[in-house]
Amino acid sequence: MAHKSKEIWKVWGNVFDNYTLRNLFKLISQGHFEKLQSPISVGKEANIFTAETKEKKKVIVKIYRLESCNFNKMYDYIKLDQRYQYLKKHRRRIIFAWTQREYRNLLKAREAGVRVPLPLAVLDHILVLEYIGDDYIALQLKNNPPENLKEFFDKIIEYIELLWKKAKLVHGDLSAFNILNYDGNPVFIDFSQATEVRTSNANELLERDIKNVCVFFRKQGMKNLDEEKIKERILS
Ligand SMILES: Nc1ncnc2c1ncn2[C@@H]1O[C@H](COP(=O)(O)OP(=O)(O)OP(=O)(O)O)[C@@H](O)[C@H]1O
Ligand SMILES: [Mg+2]
Repeated sequence: MAHKSKEIWKVWGNVFDNYTLRNLFKLISQGHFEKLQSPISVGKEANIFTAETKEKKKVIVKIYRLESCNFNKMYDYIKLDQRYQYLKKHRRRIIFAWTQREYRNLLKAREAGVRVPLPLAVLDHILVLEYIGDDYIALQLKNNPPENLKEFFDKIIEYIELLWKKAKLVHGDLSAFNILNYDGNPVFIDFSQATEVRTSNANELLERDIKNVCVFFRKQGMKNLDEEKIKERILS
Protein backbone atom coordinates (compact mmCIF):
# COMPACT_ATOMS: atom_id res chain seq x y z
CA MET A 1 0.00 0.00 0.00
CA ALA A 2 2.78 2.40 0.92
CA HIS A 3 4.49 1.69 -2.38
CA LYS A 4 1.24 2.08 -4.24
CA SER A 5 0.34 5.37 -2.62
CA LYS A 6 3.81 6.72 -3.39
CA GLU A 7 3.21 6.01 -7.05
CA ILE A 8 -0.21 7.57 -7.02
CA TRP A 9 1.31 10.58 -5.28
CA LYS A 10 3.70 10.98 -8.20
CA VAL A 11 0.94 10.75 -10.81
CA TRP A 12 -1.62 12.87 -8.98
CA GLY A 13 0.98 15.36 -7.85
CA ASN A 14 0.90 16.93 -11.29
CA VAL A 15 -2.84 17.42 -11.15
CA PHE A 16 -3.68 18.35 -7.56
CA ASP A 17 -2.31 20.77 -5.03
CA ASN A 18 -0.88 19.35 -1.81
CA TYR A 19 -3.92 20.17 0.28
CA THR A 20 -6.20 18.32 -2.13
CA LEU A 21 -3.77 15.41 -2.35
CA ARG A 22 -3.70 15.07 1.42
CA ASN A 23 -7.48 15.04 1.60
CA LEU A 24 -7.75 12.49 -1.20
CA PHE A 25 -5.40 10.21 0.73
CA LYS A 26 -7.40 10.73 3.90
CA LEU A 27 -10.54 9.63 2.08
CA ILE A 28 -8.66 6.64 0.67
CA SER A 29 -7.41 5.64 4.12
CA GLN A 30 -10.98 5.92 5.42
CA GLY A 31 -11.96 3.39 2.76
CA HIS A 32 -14.23 5.55 0.63
CA PHE A 33 -12.38 4.63 -2.56
CA GLU A 34 -9.07 3.21 -3.63
CA LYS A 35 -8.15 5.24 -6.68
CA LEU A 36 -9.51 7.89 -8.99
CA GLN A 37 -10.36 6.65 -12.48
CA SER A 38 -11.58 9.00 -15.19
CA PRO A 39 -12.29 12.68 -15.19
CA ILE A 40 -15.98 13.15 -16.03
CA SER A 41 -16.41 16.87 -16.11
CA VAL A 42 -14.66 20.16 -15.46
CA GLY A 43 -17.39 22.52 -14.30
CA LYS A 44 -17.41 26.15 -13.33
CA GLU A 45 -16.36 25.41 -9.77
CA ALA A 46 -15.61 21.71 -9.47
CA ASN A 47 -13.89 18.77 -11.16
CA ILE A 48 -15.71 15.44 -11.20
CA PHE A 49 -14.06 12.02 -11.34
CA THR A 50 -15.19 8.45 -11.15
CA ALA A 51 -13.33 6.40 -8.57
CA GLU A 52 -13.29 2.74 -7.62
CA THR A 53 -13.63 1.16 -4.20
CA LYS A 54 -11.74 -1.90 -3.00
CA GLU A 55 -14.83 -3.93 -3.91
CA LYS A 56 -14.59 -2.53 -7.47
CA LYS A 57 -17.70 -0.43 -6.98
CA LYS A 58 -17.77 2.95 -8.69
CA VAL A 59 -18.27 6.20 -6.82
CA ILE A 60 -18.15 9.85 -7.88
CA VAL A 61 -15.62 12.25 -6.41
CA LYS A 62 -16.47 15.95 -6.76
CA ILE A 63 -13.58 18.26 -5.98
CA TYR A 64 -14.24 21.98 -5.66
CA ARG A 65 -11.25 23.89 -6.91
CA LEU A 66 -9.53 25.85 -4.17
CA GLU A 67 -8.02 28.42 -6.48
CA SER A 68 -9.96 28.87 -9.70
CA CYS A 69 -13.48 29.00 -8.43
CA ASN A 70 -15.68 32.03 -8.15
CA PHE A 71 -15.89 32.25 -4.39
CA ASN A 72 -17.30 35.77 -4.56
CA LYS A 73 -20.37 34.40 -6.31
CA MET A 74 -20.50 31.48 -3.87
CA TYR A 75 -20.48 33.97 -1.01
CA ASP A 76 -23.26 36.08 -2.54
CA TYR A 77 -25.47 32.99 -2.74
CA ILE A 78 -24.62 31.24 0.50
CA LYS A 79 -24.87 34.31 2.74
CA LEU A 80 -28.62 34.44 1.99
CA ASP A 81 -29.03 30.91 3.41
CA GLN A 82 -29.88 31.25 7.10
CA ARG A 83 -27.90 28.11 7.88
CA TYR A 84 -24.72 29.93 6.83
CA GLN A 85 -25.28 33.47 8.00
CA TYR A 86 -22.35 33.30 10.37
CA LEU A 87 -19.99 32.78 7.46
CA LYS A 88 -17.24 35.37 7.00
CA LYS A 89 -15.82 36.20 3.60
CA HIS A 90 -12.85 33.91 3.75
CA ARG A 91 -12.03 31.97 0.58
CA ARG A 92 -11.41 28.50 1.95
CA ARG A 93 -14.14 28.67 4.58
CA ILE A 94 -16.66 29.61 1.92
CA ILE A 95 -15.61 26.79 -0.38
CA PHE A 96 -15.77 24.27 2.48
CA ALA A 97 -19.21 25.52 3.53
CA TRP A 98 -20.35 25.35 -0.09
CA THR A 99 -19.24 21.72 -0.28
CA GLN A 100 -20.80 20.86 3.06
CA ARG A 101 -24.03 22.54 2.03
CA GLU A 102 -24.24 20.30 -1.04
CA TYR A 103 -23.77 17.25 1.20
CA ARG A 104 -26.48 18.37 3.63
CA ASN A 105 -28.88 19.29 0.83
CA LEU A 106 -28.45 15.90 -0.83
CA LEU A 107 -29.24 14.12 2.44
CA LYS A 108 -32.33 16.23 3.00
CA ALA A 109 -33.53 15.74 -0.56
CA ARG A 110 -33.08 12.02 -0.26
CA GLU A 111 -34.97 11.88 3.03
CA ALA A 112 -37.83 13.69 1.30
CA GLY A 113 -38.02 10.98 -1.36
CA VAL A 114 -36.24 12.76 -4.21
CA ARG A 115 -33.92 10.53 -6.22
CA VAL A 116 -30.44 12.04 -5.84
CA PRO A 117 -26.95 10.53 -5.50
CA LEU A 118 -26.44 9.31 -1.95
CA PRO A 119 -23.72 11.49 -0.40
CA LEU A 120 -21.11 9.11 1.03
CA ALA A 121 -18.52 11.46 2.52
CA VAL A 122 -17.49 15.09 2.69
CA LEU A 123 -14.05 16.41 3.58
CA ASP A 124 -13.43 20.15 3.25
CA HIS A 125 -13.80 20.72 -0.52
CA ILE A 126 -14.26 17.11 -1.60
CA LEU A 127 -17.50 15.15 -1.85
CA VAL A 128 -17.87 11.42 -2.43
CA LEU A 129 -21.18 10.54 -4.04
CA GLU A 130 -23.06 7.51 -5.22
CA TYR A 131 -22.32 6.81 -8.89
CA ILE A 132 -25.46 7.05 -11.01
CA GLY A 133 -25.20 4.57 -13.86
CA ASP A 134 -24.42 0.96 -14.61
CA ASP A 135 -21.66 -0.05 -17.01
CA TYR A 136 -22.11 3.39 -18.50
CA ILE A 137 -22.56 6.55 -16.51
CA ALA A 138 -26.08 8.02 -16.65
CA LEU A 139 -26.33 10.89 -19.14
CA GLN A 140 -27.65 14.37 -18.55
CA LEU A 141 -31.27 14.84 -19.57
CA LYS A 142 -30.02 17.36 -22.12
CA ASN A 143 -28.13 14.66 -24.02
CA ASN A 144 -30.61 11.89 -23.43
CA PRO A 145 -34.26 12.96 -23.60
CA PRO A 146 -36.61 10.25 -22.31
CA GLU A 147 -39.00 8.29 -24.49
CA ASN A 148 -41.92 8.93 -22.22
CA LEU A 149 -41.80 12.71 -21.93
CA LYS A 150 -44.91 13.17 -19.84
CA GLU A 151 -44.02 10.56 -17.26
CA PHE A 152 -40.51 11.98 -16.89
CA PHE A 153 -41.78 15.56 -16.69
CA ASP A 154 -44.39 14.67 -14.05
CA LYS A 155 -41.75 12.97 -11.95
CA ILE A 156 -39.55 16.07 -12.10
CA ILE A 157 -42.43 18.27 -10.92
CA GLU A 158 -43.20 15.77 -8.16
CA TYR A 159 -39.56 16.01 -7.04
CA ILE A 160 -39.60 19.82 -7.09
CA GLU A 161 -42.75 19.65 -4.94
CA LEU A 162 -41.24 17.12 -2.50
CA LEU A 163 -38.14 19.29 -2.24
CA TRP A 164 -40.19 22.36 -1.47
CA LYS A 165 -42.76 20.83 0.85
CA LYS A 166 -40.87 18.07 2.62
CA ALA A 167 -37.18 18.99 2.45
CA LYS A 168 -38.04 22.72 2.60
CA LEU A 169 -35.49 23.31 -0.14
CA VAL A 170 -35.39 24.74 -3.61
CA HIS A 171 -32.77 23.42 -6.04
CA GLY A 172 -32.04 26.79 -7.59
CA ASP A 173 -30.06 25.57 -10.59
CA LEU A 174 -32.35 22.97 -12.04
CA SER A 175 -32.06 22.39 -15.78
CA ALA A 176 -31.57 19.60 -18.27
CA PHE A 177 -27.87 19.72 -17.27
CA ASN A 178 -28.48 18.97 -13.61
CA ILE A 179 -31.00 16.19 -14.11
CA LEU A 180 -29.70 12.79 -15.17
CA ASN A 181 -31.77 10.30 -17.12
CA TYR A 182 -31.09 7.00 -15.44
CA ASP A 183 -33.02 4.20 -17.13
CA GLY A 184 -35.89 6.51 -17.93
CA ASN A 185 -36.03 8.02 -14.44
CA PRO A 186 -34.88 11.47 -13.38
CA VAL A 187 -32.08 11.87 -10.83
CA PHE A 188 -31.44 15.41 -9.54
CA ILE A 189 -27.78 16.37 -9.07
CA ASP A 190 -25.62 19.42 -8.29
CA PHE A 191 -27.20 20.69 -5.06
CA SER A 192 -24.54 23.14 -3.90
CA GLN A 193 -26.70 26.17 -4.55
CA ALA A 194 -29.91 24.62 -3.23
CA THR A 195 -31.23 26.76 -0.42
CA GLU A 196 -33.96 26.75 2.21
CA VAL A 197 -37.47 27.83 1.22
CA ARG A 198 -37.29 30.60 3.82
CA THR A 199 -34.37 32.24 1.94
CA SER A 200 -35.32 35.66 0.61
CA ASN A 201 -34.99 34.70 -3.07
CA ALA A 202 -36.44 31.16 -2.78
CA ASN A 203 -39.62 31.95 -4.73
CA GLU A 204 -37.62 33.44 -7.59
CA LEU A 205 -35.41 30.35 -7.70
CA LEU A 206 -38.46 28.09 -7.71
CA GLU A 207 -39.93 30.05 -10.62
CA ARG A 208 -36.67 29.77 -12.53
CA ASP A 209 -36.35 26.02 -11.90
CA ILE A 210 -39.90 25.42 -13.17
CA LYS A 211 -39.28 27.64 -16.17
CA ASN A 212 -36.03 25.90 -17.15
CA VAL A 213 -37.70 22.51 -16.99
CA CYS A 214 -40.75 23.66 -18.97
CA VAL A 215 -38.63 25.33 -21.66
CA PHE A 216 -36.74 22.07 -22.20
CA PHE A 217 -39.85 19.90 -22.37
CA ARG A 218 -41.60 22.34 -24.69
CA LYS A 219 -38.63 22.07 -27.06
CA GLN A 220 -39.06 18.30 -26.90
CA GLY A 221 -42.63 18.77 -28.11
CA MET A 222 -44.78 18.86 -24.98
CA LYS A 223 -47.71 21.24 -25.17
CA ASN A 224 -49.86 23.08 -22.64
CA LEU A 225 -47.27 23.35 -19.90
CA ASP A 226 -48.53 26.00 -17.52
CA GLU A 227 -45.67 27.29 -15.38
CA GLU A 228 -47.94 29.47 -13.26
CA LYS A 229 -50.24 26.56 -12.43
CA ILE A 230 -47.32 24.32 -11.49
CA LYS A 231 -45.95 27.00 -9.22
CA GLU A 232 -49.34 27.48 -7.56
CA ARG A 233 -49.61 23.76 -6.95
CA ILE A 234 -46.20 23.64 -5.33
CA LEU A 235 -46.83 26.68 -3.17
CA SER A 236 -50.32 25.48 -2.17
N1 LIG B 1 -23.43 11.12 -8.90
C1 LIG B 1 -23.20 11.22 -10.22
N2 LIG B 1 -23.35 10.13 -11.02
C2 LIG B 1 -23.12 10.24 -12.34
N3 LIG B 1 -22.70 11.35 -12.96
C3 LIG B 1 -22.53 12.46 -12.22
C4 LIG B 1 -22.77 12.45 -10.81
N4 LIG B 1 -22.49 13.68 -10.34
C5 LIG B 1 -22.10 14.42 -11.39
N5 LIG B 1 -22.12 13.70 -12.53
C6 LIG B 1 -21.72 14.16 -13.88
O1 LIG B 1 -20.83 15.26 -13.78
C7 LIG B 1 -21.40 16.46 -14.32
C8 LIG B 1 -21.05 17.64 -13.45
O2 LIG B 1 -21.53 17.45 -12.14
P1 LIG B 1 -22.20 18.64 -11.32
O3 LIG B 1 -23.34 19.19 -12.09
O4 LIG B 1 -22.46 18.14 -9.95
O5 LIG B 1 -21.03 19.66 -11.22
P2 LIG B 1 -20.80 21.07 -11.96
O6 LIG B 1 -21.93 21.45 -12.83
O7 LIG B 1 -19.45 21.04 -12.50
O8 LIG B 1 -20.83 21.91 -10.70
P3 LIG B 1 -20.70 23.46 -10.64
O9 LIG B 1 -21.89 24.01 -11.42
O10 LIG B 1 -20.80 23.67 -9.17
O11 LIG B 1 -19.40 23.79 -11.26
C9 LIG B 1 -22.89 16.18 -14.35
O12 LIG B 1 -23.56 16.90 -15.30
C10 LIG B 1 -22.94 14.68 -14.62
O13 LIG B 1 -22.81 14.44 -15.99
MG1 LIG C 1 -23.96 20.93 -12.96
